Amino acid sequence: MDTAHRSFPILVALFVLLFGVTSSQPYEEFLQCLEFHDSNITSIVYTRANSSFSSLLESSIRNPRFDTSATPKPLLIFTPRQISHIQSAIRCSRAHRIQIRKHKFQIRIRSGGHDYEGLSYTSPDHNSSFLILDLISFRNISIDLAQQTAWIQPAVTTGELYYRIAEKSSTLAFPSGICPTVGLGGQISGGGWGTLLRKYGLAADNVLDTRVIDAEGRILDRASMGEDMFWAIRGGGGNTFGIVIAWKIKLVPVPASVTACTVTRTLEQNATEIVHRWQYVVDKLSNDVFFMVVLNRVVNPIQANATTIQASFNSLYLGSIEGLILMMEAKFPDLGLRRENCVEMSWAKSILYFAGFPLNSPLESLLDRTISATGSAKFKGKSDYVKEPIPISGFEGIWEKLKEVGVQTGGLILASYGGKMSEIPESSIPFPHRAGNIYQVEEVAFWVEDGVEAADGYLNWLRGLYEYMTPYVSKNPREAYANYRDLDIGRNGGGGEGDYRRARSWGSSYYKNNFDRLVRVKTAVDPANFFRNEQSIPPLSSWR
Ligand SMILES: Cc1cc2nc3c(=O)[nH]c(=O)nc-3n(C[C@H](O)[C@H](O)[C@H](O)COP(=O)(O)OP(=O)(O)OC[C@H]3O[C@@H](n4cnc5c(N)ncnc54)[C@H](O)[C@@H]3O)c2cc1C
Ligand SMILES: *[C@@H]1O[C@H](CO)[C@@H](O)[C@H](O)[C@H]1NC(C)=O
Ligand SMILES: *[C@@H]1O[C@H](CO)[C@@H](O)[C@H](O)[C@H]1NC(C)=O
Ligand SMILES: *[C@@H]1O[C@H](CO)[C@@H](O)[C@H](O)[C@H]1NC(C)=O
Ligand SMILES: *[C@@H]1O[C@H](CO)[C@@H](O)[C@H](O)[C@H]1NC(C)=O
Ligand SMILES: *[C@@H]1O[C@H](CO)[C@@H](O)[C@H](O)[C@H]1NC(C)=O
Ligand SMILES: *[C@@H]1O[C@H](CO)[C@@H](O)[C@H](O)[C@H]1NC(C)=O
Repeated sequence: MDTAHRSFPILVALFVLLFGVTSSQPYEEFLQCLEFHDSNITSIVYTRANSSFSSLLESSIRNPRFDTSATPKPLLIFTPRQISHIQSAIRCSRAHRIQIRKHKFQIRIRSGGHDYEGLSYTSPDHNSSFLILDLISFRNISIDLAQQTAWIQPAVTTGELYYRIAEKSSTLAFPSGICPTVGLGGQISGGGWGTLLRKYGLAADNVLDTRVIDAEGRILDRASMGEDMFWAIRGGGGNTFGIVIAWKIKLVPVPASVTACTVTRTLEQNATEIVHRWQYVVDKLSNDVFFMVVLNRVVNPIQANATTIQASFNSLYLGSIEGLILMMEAKFPDLGLRRENCVEMSWAKSILYFAGFPLNSPLESLLDRTISATGSAKFKGKSDYVKEPIPISGFEGIWEKLKEVGVQTGGLILASYGGKMSEIPESSIPFPHRAGNIYQVEEVAFWVEDGVEAADGYLNWLRGLYEYMTPYVSKNPREAYANYRDLDIGRNGGGGEGDYRRARSWGSSYYKNNFDRLVRVKTAVDPANFFRNEQSIPPLSSWR
């Protein structure tokens, strides 16, 4: 017998002596390991017995659909305050997992908590066998005006970033999302689009460097991780390649004053024809214009006891009201845009405008992390990409679908593409939805009712709408936005987690041909699949 074999039982015995095997909680050895690394670490660990556990868990749940007694809960929540805490958590959870195989703990990373399926704080497949690493204390921002760059930590929200930039400069911005409470840890990991996408692309297109803690607990930057991993983390999905602890981003120039406008049209005001026409115009406009259209069912403004369908056209122009009106008169007269539909304001204020805040809200509203975009409503979203204009008859079918649910409980949000989005190659970063797309669609359902039955009703309605959209949207693959995570994609593709066909299905929808490169990077940097969730890129070794 060689020495390697003989030493193995001795090592096991040592572990048993050090950490014990008779503990009542499966995570006790793990906690002891943590204390062994850092005697102060208990102050950042919350067990279920702790009276603050629930409020801490709920503090960043952004979809109340996953805040019920039936929602699978974590065993522990960590709130690291410094990098060494994260490293200890990684090292101990690896050691612990090796020691007791039946408890395969997963680490779920949480920054802003907006994951559409709640995967940063719950797990449909792993009840009680996951921990949350809540990065809420990682919220520093440092802006370098001279270089027009910033270092930001992952729990910084888009709103906080926009506010801090605006404090220093009225002519700089960052092309990330519209909702001000979303965390940049998750958002940049999946792409990040907002009103500047036609001018500057996505948030992930504007990342210059990063700090990531890998599955070995090492701190990597762009140079030390190499270009493959740096490519993968800019859009290839969170909770997959490592824990992002900072992004270095490139700020972008905007005019000190921009124009935001809203025009609403109901069916009685030719909404169908105008939306139809919109599709022939939006992707070809100047890169200085962004258009979003919200389609939903509303109380009819001219007949209070009846409902109708409304199209709300929201536009942002990097210029003056007069400039936009002249352009619209020439390119899109059917919209009938008028001066009184528009307001000039700073770019930072235009975020509040697009996010639906009242017009005179203070800029400080951007700092409020607790404001919920959906109120107490539960939601589910799906996404699509449109490459050929949908015919009038196609929209008429959408109106029928919208009439199946109540007022403002379901809708579609269309966001114009083209411009810079078409200039960036599909393989530049993992986000592949570039040239050839006229606009992106989000199909969404909201509900306030509790219970499984109500939820199933809305989910089935949304799935029906999605089914209805099939002939009008991208095919082979049917593309989807990774940040609008949808666990329905690939659900019928095969067996359990890591299954090849299932992963291929959502993988090609989110990443198209970039999926294969993402798998190669994952296999190289995390072959043991330490960082994972129900839709993280699997390493090749897991495809058995
Ligand atoms: C109300 C609302 C509005 C939205 N508006 C927009 C929008 O305008 N534009 C847009 O592009 N998207 C938008 N989104 C989608 C949003 O970008 C994604 O949900 C994003 O992933 C959320 O990031 P987060 O940090 O808030 O969420 P989390 O739930 O904390 O994280 C999302 C995912 O990333 C992982 N992750 C989080 N932090 C890290 C990290 N530091 N390192 C590694 N992995 C990490 C998580 O484990 C999880 O898998 C919106 C979502 C909501 C709910
Ligand atoms: C623990 O905290 C004490 C007091 O704050 C500090 O002096 C000590 O360095 C800390 N130990 C570690 C390992 O961080
Ligand atoms: C809850 O956990 C925190 C962090 O470990 C600790 O500071 C606090 O005292 C605990 N509270 C209770 C009631 O156990
Ligand atoms: C999750 O596990 C806990 C503890 O084992 C159990 O009480 C709870 O019912 C489980 N929940 C689900 C949704 O399976
Ligand atoms: C944030 O910045 C402050 C001040 O520089 C520093 O003390 C703190 O450690 C930083 N926090 C993190 C999580 O990096
Ligand atoms: C709708 O379109 C018709 C035909 O083009 C036009 O006559 C009518 O004025 C329009 N209605 C509104 C409210 O714009
Ligand atoms: C709405 O009210 C008007 C006037 O009271 C009535 O004529 C009409 O039939 C009502 N419509 C519906 C849909 O109930």
